[in-house]
This record gives sequence, C-alpha cells and structure tokens, in this order.
Amino acid sequence: VPVEPFDIVVFGATGDLALRKLIPALFHRWCDGQITADSRIIAASREPMSDDAFRDIAARHIFERDPTDARRKAWSDFIERMHYVAVDVSAQGEDWADLKAALDPDEDKIRLYYLALPPSTYGQACAGLAAQSLNTPNARIVLEKPIGTDFHSARRINDQVGEVFRENNIFRIDHYLGKETVQNLLILRFANYLFEPIWNANGIDHVQITVAESLGAGERAGYYDRSGALRDMVQNHLLQLACLVAMEPPASLDPDSVRTEKLKVLKALRPITAANVSQDVVRGQYQAGAVGGSPVPGYAEEVGSDTGTETFVAIRAQLENWRWAGVPFYMRTGKRMGSRRSEIIVQFKPVPHDVVGAVDGVLHPNRLVIRLQPDEGVKLMLMTKDPGPGGLRLRYVPLNLSYAEHFEANYPDAYERLLMAVVRGNLSLFMRRDEVEAAWRWVDGIIRAWDEGQAKLYGYQAGTDGPTQAALLLAREDREWFDAIRH
Ligand code: BG6
Repeated sequence: VPVEPFDIVVFGATGDLALRKLIPALFHRWCDGQITADSRIIAASREPMSDDAFRDIAARHIFERDPTDARRKAWSDFIERMHYVAVDVSAQGEDWADLKAALDPDEDKIRLYYLALPPSTYGQACAGLAAQSLNTPNARIVLEKPIGTDFHSARRINDQVGEVFRENNIFRIDHYLGKETVQNLLILRFANYLFEPIWNANGIDHVQITVAESLGAGERAGYYDRSGALRDMVQNHLLQLACLVAMEPPASLDPDSVRTEKLKVLKALRPITAANVSQDVVRGQYQAGAVGGSPVPGYAEEVGSDTGTETFVAIRAQLENWRWAGVPFYMRTGKRMGSRRSEIIVQFKPVPHDVVGAVDGVLHPNRLVIRLQPDEGVKLMLMTKDPGPGGLRLRYVPLNLSYAEHFEANYPDAYERLLMAVVRGNLSLFMRRDEVEAAWRWVDGIIRAWDEGQAKLYGYQAGTDGPTQAALLLAREDREWFDAIRH
C-alpha cells in the first residue's frame, strides 16, 4: 500500500549509512510501489556536487548488489525524484535557503529530516531547519543512534532537538526494532497464551542475547574508536532487545503503551558500578586471527594505534522487579567473531521431577531460540521420545519455524520498514526520549567504573567467540553460552 507523498531530506548523504542503507531502502520501497511519484528525496551533504554526480555515487551502491535490468529501469525513474543540495549544517549559511527551495512549498506535505550525522551536530541541524521555518506541521525529524555519548550529552541533544520539534515528531531510530523477528517478539509473547504464564522467574532460568558480527570495525574507526561496543551496541540494540523480552504486557500496541513498559525495564536494571563491574562485565578487543578462512589483522593494527577501545563486551545484567528477580540476562556483542549471528535465547527451568528416570541420562530444559540473523527463525527445543526401537530413549529436538521455509514473501529490511513507519507517523518502533536517557544512565554506571580504572581489556583472537573471560561469566554459575548452530 503506498504511503502518503512525502519529501525526505537525508543529511549526511555521502556517508556510509546513507549510501549503504537509507538510499537503497528508499529505492526498494519505490520499486515495491510504496513511494508515490510526487515524493522527493533530497540528499544533503557538505561538499558541492551536481544531482548527477550524487546519483552516480548512489547508483554504485545499489548496483553492486543488484545489477538487473529491471532495477536499472526502476532506478532511472527513481532518480528523477532525487536531488542533491550542499548544506553545511555547522554553519547557518545561505545553503539552508537552497534546501528550502528544493522542498515542495506545500507546508502540509509530510517532511522527513533524517540526520545521518554525528549526534554532536543534531542541535545545529535543528537550529538551521528552524531558522528557515522548515519545522512545518507535518515535519518529522529522524535521529540516528547513538544519541550522545553519555546521559548528559544525550539530554543536551534531546533538549536542543526538543526546542524545534515536539516529542511526537521526533523519531529516534534503533534499527533493531525494524527487524522482522524483533517485531515478532511482541506477537510471540502477547498474541499467544502459551509463554506468558511461565515467562518469569518461576519458569525461566536465564536469558541470553547475542549480537555477533564477523566484520571488523576498522573501516569506521574514526567513529568506532571513540565509541566502542558498549556505546555502539549495548546502549541501544541490546538493551532494546532486553526490553522486549522483559517488558510487562502493554495495554495495546500504541506507541506510549509500549514505550512506557520498555522504560520500566530500563529503570529496573540493577546498576553496575565499580563494586561489581569486574564480576559482571567483560571487555575485549580482537587480535589478528581468521574469519571465514581468511586472515584478518587485529583491531589496533587496523586503527593504526595502540587503542584501549573495546570491540567486544559481555554483561551479566539483572532486573530488580518481581517478574525477573534472580534471573540473569546475559548479553554479549562483538566485532570479528566467528560468524554473523544474532539471537535471543530464553532458557526455561528444568522439570521439577524426572518421571522418566531418563534412561540415557539427560533431561534438557526447554529453550526458546529467537534468531534475528542471518536467517530469521523461532525454535522451541523440546524433549521427545526417540521413535526408534530399543527402549525409551529421549531426544532434544526443535519445533522449528524457519522464516525462509515458511514465508514466501521477501520482506523489507529494517530501514525500509522504519522509514515507512516514520512517513506513517507510527512512533511505536522508535525510542522515546526517556528511554534513551534511562539506557544511558545504566550504561554510564559501567563507563564510570571503567574510567575509575576497572577497564581491563582482554584480547580475543578474531574469528572466535570472544575472550575466555566471557565464557567464565556464565561458567561461574554453571551455565554456558548456547550456540544455536551447534545445539
Ligand atoms: C550499528 C552499529 O548500529 O549496527 C554497527 O553502529 C553495527 O557497528 C550495526 O555493525 C549492526 O547492524 P546489523 O543490522 O548488521 O546487525
């Protein structure tokens, strides 16, 4: 179904995010007929260049993945809607007037301003928009993560943006919320009766959240080296996943019902401080190794300096509320791990009494595996009787919902989905100001503890599961990280 006509300005249009994700996302929505011909895409960045020069740069990113003739035909129609304007957001120069001129003069038209820029410039960008009265009634501002580098900078940025846009027109992106299986989490939990009665400390032993990447951070070192895995991934993506697993049922899926429940989870996180950081958090940095059979350099070598930035972090988090008291949430994320793999694992408790006297020894507790990537799926591990001859033998087998096998349709990627949600004005999939700030408050505790000298950095070989200390974090409690590929 086509969305209403809109104009979108992509600030930071020559950057990695815009070229790799945003422009392709808009193009794919165009190809599927969701964007109407009277919409406009305005690419904005500092350096002057012609429309055609920008279109050529953008085309390279599109066609390296999808060079078919049909796509080329669609592209030639799409680029008629795409223009380039040079705007320096750090100065209030005349180029802002050029931007205004490139927009549809109809002030009621939906406008999206996407800030694919360093967060420190968000305030200036908003001031520039306000100076030209571009914050029209239907204008929405889209902010990329990370918003700030700590609680105070996040609050400052939120204040600056809030001076120009009302909260209901501010869309703080966490692209993990646009992923298919992440959205399905709420449906799995709240549109089925099955799980919710045992979805608590009585039924669940612990939760594991893994976001493993095989790529390194070297190419984005300018940003990444100042950020590190905690700020880049945990403050946003991993905590958002934890929220969706842990939240109470909202009264409905309307944005504020959902976001209020997520906020409560963030507020219930037990603070990590200098007193417990070394037991509950493991920092790591990859060293030279091999990924997918190819040798890769270590992070410090890629960055070209001896750096203390973490490329891996594992955390044992706890929620202080009735539902989750005593249930650890283990989270880990890292670059240059063995494979790209993101999943949430909910480990249920063992049965209270073994009626089987399990002949072959082991009764495995049920486990729910929600796989985000590379292949989406939901798997419920169950004990069953081995149908073969020779007495009672038990098998631990999956009830397996593989998206690729079950759903034929090719569904939109996270950015496509989220961009269309902004056009529709649906805030449910975006973070509210207080959520972002609450997440920072908790993460700040860890950063402070690190700053106070508790930032031991463990090396791990590229292509592995991270430092052995991350395994010990669980082994200490007689648990282990599950790898759905192996288990
Ligand atoms: C981004 C991080 O938010 O998410 C990157 O800044 C990371 O460092 C990326 O690589 C991972 O996203 P995805 O969708 O590939 O899992």
